[in-house]
Amino acid sequence: MLTTTKSAKAMSRAYVERAHKRDLTIGIMGLGYVGLPLAEAFLSAGFRVLGFDIDETKVSALTVGKTYIAHIPDARIATMMATGRLEVTSDETRLPAADALLMCVPTPLNIHREPDISYVEKTTQMIARHLRPAQLVILESTTYPGTSDEVVRTILETTGLKAGADFAIAYSPEREDPGNIDFSTSSIPKVVGADTDAERDMAIAVYETITKVVPVSDMKTAEAVKLTENIFRLINIALVNELKTVFQGMDIDVWEVIDAAKTKPFGFMAFYPGPGLGGHCIPIDPFYLTWKARAHGETTRFIELAGDVVTRMPRIVIEALAEAMSGHLKKSVAGSRILVSGLAYKKNVDDMRESPSLHLIHMLRERGAHVDYHDPHIPSVPMNRDHPEFAGMKSVDLTEAALQSYDCVLISTDHDAVDYTNIVRHAPLVIDTRNAAKDIPAELRHKVVKA
Ligand SMILES: NC(=O)c1ccc[n+]([C@@H]2O[C@H](COP(=O)([O-])OP(=O)(O)OC[C@H]3O[C@@H](n4cnc5c(N)ncnc54)[C@H](O)[C@@H]3O)[C@@H](O)[C@H]2O)c1
Repeated sequence: MLTTTKSAKAMSRAYVERAHKRDLTIGIMGLGYVGLPLAEAFLSAGFRVLGFDIDETKVSALTVGKTYIAHIPDARIATMMATGRLEVTSDETRLPAADALLMCVPTPLNIHREPDISYVEKTTQMIARHLRPAQLVILESTTYPGTSDEVVRTILETTGLKAGADFAIAYSPEREDPGNIDFSTSSIPKVVGADTDAERDMAIAVYETITKVVPVSDMKTAEAVKLTENIFRLINIALVNELKTVFQGMDIDVWEVIDAAKTKPFGFMAFYPGPGLGGHCIPIDPFYLTWKARAHGETTRFIELAGDVVTRMPRIVIEALAEAMSGHLKKSVAGSRILVSGLAYKKNVDDMRESPSLHLIHMLRERGAHVDYHDPHIPSVPMNRDHPEFAGMKSVDLTEAALQSYDCVLISTDHDAVDYTNIVRHAPLVIDTRNAAKDIPAELRHKVVKA
């Protein structure tokens, strides 16, 4: 850990005092799934907030009180704007107005499945162009240990200002779980790491106004915490998917097994199988560590094995579907009509990034099926990088006639807003990858195949 100089102590003390009085402007860079609720939390805590995004459509929407994220309704945006303390902009010359700059920008993988930190670099370069003394810069994006030091600090210090002396840096991973109604920004503790006491105190003072803070010794530890959390999920999801396949061969229902196992009050945590990995985190973040480990001459065999297991899941589901169609309907996938229920990568959100449903549709079409989808949260498919050929597809309404017109419905996402009894009642065959149809009447169960 670096030592804290007297002037840094003074900077930190003054900053902490202002945080206690809510006399700071909190800049949020990147107003997406993570940045928008974070802005809302700081407004609720009484701060002025400068919301910054390079996507002008988001800025325009917010300015007129409109949302672009399904689970954050217009009314919440209107409440944020009505505080009179939120400025939203795409104008980078406004950045000096912020006392803290929290970066919530994407950290995807590139086509070689290596970390793409170009968004972090570009955002930091933008901050560097306007950096002023006593600003606190915090990366929240998920990334490999070392990014805040090697990338963020290096870029910001090209200004001639010194981190930990003239300005401050910290890292605090985002743990937002979109669509989860049990937890929100204010009820999820925030891990905060910084390389000096002065910088850590500043970051803690900011975050403890919105939630409980868990300080750690330095930025790379905080970066490692986030990856550990997501790797834990990946490994357990892979395990439970493997168990599903094994138990299926023994005619054992894995969901029943999990529901009974989770009654053990210690030593077990429930994870559920599905049609494959999805979203912006679990399929991506663990491979940030794999990449960084390689640079340290280490391998991450466990992570790669888990990745292999879950990557096979969509294929296993399609094989189960083909078998069920041939067994129940004496039909092949080629030439059949299939409805995929749920396009989002998880329940009750409108986010289809890396969604397994997209792979499933692609694979079914490759086998010659006509495929439509239903998703109450995604009325039509927007242009997307992975499957531009699906852009413009429209969600099919689940009417009796529509359901009867398909050979099979494949439940890929278990949105609460979908009536699964209705689906099973009218569709000839249902392949259920989420145990979504668990509560349907007994007389309909013969139409459901779990996969
Ligand atoms: N979505 C989640 O559930 C979740 C959960 C935890 C952590 N994270 C992590 O948080 C980070 C952000 O994810 P997200 O889901 O909010 O992404 P997102 O795509 O919803 O939002 C990112 C926003 O950043 C904006 N942006 C890009 N470059 C910018 C720049 N230079 N300046 C300002 N804005 C810029 C984009 O226009 C976009 O609005 C990622 O690292 C992700 O891994 C996401």
